Amino acid sequence: MAKQILIRNVPASLQQWIERERKQRVMSQQQFLVQLLRDASDTSQMSLFEGNGAGLQERPDWAPFSFVDLFSGIGGFRIAFERAGGRCVGSVEWDKHAQRTYQEWFGEKPLGDIRKLNPKDLPDHDVMLAGFPCQPFSIAGVSKKNSLGREHGFRDKTQGTLFYNLATIAEIKRPPVMVLENVKNLLSHDKGKTWQVIKLTLEELGYRVFHKVIDGADYVPQHRKRIFIVCFDQRVFGDDPPFEFPEKPETKPPVIKDILEKNPDPKYTLSDHLWKYLQDYAQSHREKGNGFGFGLVDLNGRSRTLSARYYKDGSEILIPQKGKKNPRRLTPREAARLMGFDDSLPIVVSDTQAYRQFGNAIIPPVAEAVAKQVVAVISWKVARTGNGCLIKGRN
Ligand SMILES: C[S@@+](CC[C@H](N)C(=O)[O-])C[C@H]1O[C@@H](n2cnc3c(N)ncnc32)[C@H](O)[C@@H]1O
Repeated sequence: MAKQILIRNVPASLQQWIERERKQRVMSQQQFLVQLLRDASDTSQMSLFEGNGAGLQERPDWAPFSFVDLFSGIGGFRIAFERAGGRCVGSVEWDKHAQRTYQEWFGEKPLGDIRKLNPKDLPDHDVMLAGFPCQPFSIAGVSKKNSLGREHGFRDKTQGTLFYNLATIAEIKRPPVMVLENVKNLLSHDKGKTWQVIKLTLEELGYRVFHKVIDGADYVPQHRKRIFIVCFDQRVFGDDPPFEFPEKPETKPPVIKDILEKNPDPKYTLSDHLWKYLQDYAQSHREKGNGFGFGLVDLNGRSRTLSARYYKDGSEILIPQKGKKNPRRLTPREAARLMGFDDSLPIVVSDTQAYRQFGNAIIPPVAEAVAKQVVAVISWKVARTGNGCLIKGRN
């Protein structure tokens, strides 16, 4: 008699994936897992990196690919690229609380400080993901012209920054694709010089660079403008890869009231003291003529951007409450929902750390929309070369 499959100790993200995939195929969990094992054991099937591409043309919107998750935080990027069909082969994050969440969600502890990492120790990968922290580059008058004749002149300018570490990994590992994410202000930082250096560095490394600021409000009930930088190795994709950023989704995003918990703990309600302080502070700013203040949300609308400092007073996103109750801050679960993280992902750290982690994260549904566009280019390339692998087809 056939044995039943029992799933135990599987990371939450994999459980979610199994649930989603089996529902899509209208299969029971048992049927789905048996099919998966059958496919995996079928040796005539193309392997991820060594196949000849047979069969890929039949699925032009899909290609197998591997990725690394640098500055991973809690893995918002990873969720997105796994949903788009990718397989994570390595992660790097030094914050021990974020590592804890990552371990719980994905069953793996990321490597620590990226500055101490030997890039050669990272596995080969098709796509490098990095939500890198933005740091200032003090440079004067960078232009393409004054770097001519100097190898990696722009990279010199970034020495001592985390972007420098990222560029070094790119130079050594040469991922065919890189997807980087940062705050919108990266474009205007230091009068535009920081962005100029980053873009020129990536181009000098031989990548075709696309960038766009995307507002998360089209996907979740939160305004969150982030720059996405998508880079394709010109040696692999040529000078004109057919990449386009995603269109706005057709479905209407949820509003704040859709993500609220029914019975939030009263501890999230602001004390009289804090509420008075926030109101007085806003008033004094109004009198000085600037608009800074707390953000009492419209329950039928969207919130301001959740920041990593939300744990301090929660002032940027306050939920009005009925009667004479003071407003309250979001619960950590609501913060997760505001960022587009599923309820099935457990929150395993303190409230303070949870707010920091969600406030630092990427919105998985936004990154997933970008990921799908990247996959379209990868599969375009794979179909054209008839080579089921980017890593080996790079020469
Ligand atoms: C903007 S967050 C990225 C968040 C991630 N995209 C997510 O969805 O959770 C940047 C991350 O880089 C990490 N970081 C900063 N310096 C680092 C270093 N030297 N080595 C490794 N990680 C670092 C921070 O701890 C932080 O979690």
